[in-house]
Amino acid sequence: MPDAAATLRVGEALAGGVAAGRVLHLRGELGTGKTTVVRGLLRGLGFTGRVKSPSYTLVEPYSISSLNLYHFDFYRFKDRTEWLSSGFREYFNADSVCLVEWPERAGTLLAPPDLDLALEFAGEGRRAILHSHSRTGELWLLSFLSRA
Ligand SMILES: Nc1ncnc2c1ncn2[C@@H]1O[C@H](COP(=O)(O)OP(=O)(O)OP(=O)(O)O)[C@@H](O)[C@H]1O
Ligand SMILES: [Mg+2]
Repeated sequence: MPDAAATLRVGEALAGGVAAGRVLHLRGELGTGKTTVVRGLLRGLGFTGRVKSPSYTLVEPYSISSLNLYHFDFYRFKDRTEWLSSGFREYFNADSVCLVEWPERAGTLLAPPDLDLALEFAGEGRRAILHSHSRTGELWLLSFLSRA
């Protein structure tokens, strides 16, 4: 992705595969564009409001059409015990869509996502690597590829 607009388009292309119960992990160093992908995804779902980074609040909830989405950022978790005491585990259920920045801060306590998006710096731009971890994730990936 040569610029932030291209990263937004990646998010938009991911929107078509969003459905209740699905989980997306967004990995990559500080500033690689994780929040930008989420911004594009929410925009792709028709959301027109402001998408704030959840770095301080840890979670930002969105209700779009009939979907309940939760955008998490676990960067501030020092270790996985903070994930346990946060009570966020109950957000990961069949009725919600969870988009998680810095999932590694919750360690192995967090179940593998349907889809994993890893972002890397590539010159002035960014590179995205996608992996599916479930049948649902595979379908999500296929829907992404048909739109990207
Ligand atoms: N493909 C790209 N090329 C260049 N700049 C980009 C690209 N994608 C996003 N950016 C820019 O990178 C900056 C950081 O983006 P963003 O906040 O989305 O990163 P992040 O991974 O969420 O960071 P953090 O780990 O701090 O939450 C923003 O200024 C954004 O516009
Ligand atoms: Mg971010």
